[in-house]
Amino acid sequence: MRVSALLKQLKIAPETVLVIQDGTLVPDDVLLGDETELEIRPVISGGSGDANQPASKCRVCQAPSVIKLRRHNAHFCGKHFLRLCRSQVVQAVKDYDMLKPDDKVLIAVSGGKDSLALWDILLSLGYQVDGLYIGLGINDYSNTSRSFAEDFAASRQQHLEIVDLHEDYGFDVPSAAKATHRPPCSACGLSKRHIFDEVALKQGYDVLATGHNLDDEASVLLGNVLRWQNEYLARQHPVLPAREGFPKKVKPLVRLSERETAAYCVLTGIDYMVEECPMAAGNRHLAYKEMLNLAEERSPGTKHDFYHAFLRSVEPIFSAEFQGQKESLGKCQVCSAPSPNELCAFCRLRERVKN
Ligand code: AMP
Ligand code: FES
Ligand code: ZN
Ligand code: ZN
Repeated sequence: MRVSALLKQLKIAPETVLVIQDGTLVPDDVLLGDETELEIRPVISGGSGDANQPASKCRVCQAPSVIKLRRHNAHFCGKHFLRLCRSQVVQAVKDYDMLKPDDKVLIAVSGGKDSLALWDILLSLGYQVDGLYIGLGINDYSNTSRSFAEDFAASRQQHLEIVDLHEDYGFDVPSAAKATHRPPCSACGLSKRHIFDEVALKQGYDVLATGHNLDDEASVLLGNVLRWQNEYLARQHPVLPAREGFPKKVKPLVRLSERETAAYCVLTGIDYMVEECPMAAGNRHLAYKEMLNLAEERSPGTKHDFYHAFLRSVEPIFSAEFQGQKESLGKCQVCSAPSPNELCAFCRLRERVKN
């Protein structure tokens, strides 16, 4: 039986999974032996979907392909797929003026596919990049994801800065969620943003990079559009310039989907945390991702066009509207982060959990 037939029998859409054997990708048209052991790994948030697509030859070199990208209406061999991923990052960096060749870059790494793929791509492009991992105290999930980040750093002899919410600040995400009666992701996001800024500024990095990919950005955009949150729309740029108390922030993966970053990791042998955060279940953005994946299945390229056409022609209108409306901020009395109040949101959260 061929891989494509197996997936069809299992009612799994090839676009939503990677089929892996002994650490490499298996294309849809490969004939399987009776004893073949395969891993079918879901690579889009919300799990695998159902449909069917045949595989073929690499668009560039005609060698057998390992992956089909419907958005590009093309198949790629491993080598040319990796080249495509790197060129998409080069393009994003150039289009949005994200990085200068000698910038000192700090990348926030979660141990997941996106940030590890991005770290690898930026290193392969010659950038000087250190990692930052934040332990959020989500039990086994945090311990395991930390070891993926550490193993990657060690394998490339790169520096990984580790900040532990519990050890360094005296609380963790589950206790913050309990104390605030809010979804864990809100304390999690707030803490991560605060620590990203603090470490990048204190340690003199020029830029902070995160692994947000096309699916992440398109789903946030959909959420903002559905509620017409104009102020958020004005800030949804893949580059936020440095300003008093904030480092420059960039998202160089905005031209790659999460399936592509997962395939990048498999093909380069990067081990990553496959499981998603157990506390993110029910997160609104997962539902938006599912909606966009449905649209993408019917019409490949929808996600890319939705997000990138927004950046080209709509986002400038919103950002012009809110230009100059940034409040001038004072400083938090505890940590000196920019804040309109005596205590910044992070220090308030910390106080609240302690009490
Ligand atoms: P998420 O908010 O989980 O979708 O992650 C978006 C990006 O934030 C990732 O690609 C990483 O760059 C960064 N990130 C997420 N979790 C962590 C973490 N625990 N430590 C450092 N960076 C993280
Ligand atoms: Fe933040 Fe799960 S990673 S709540
Ligand atoms: Zn090729
Ligand atoms: Zn503070």
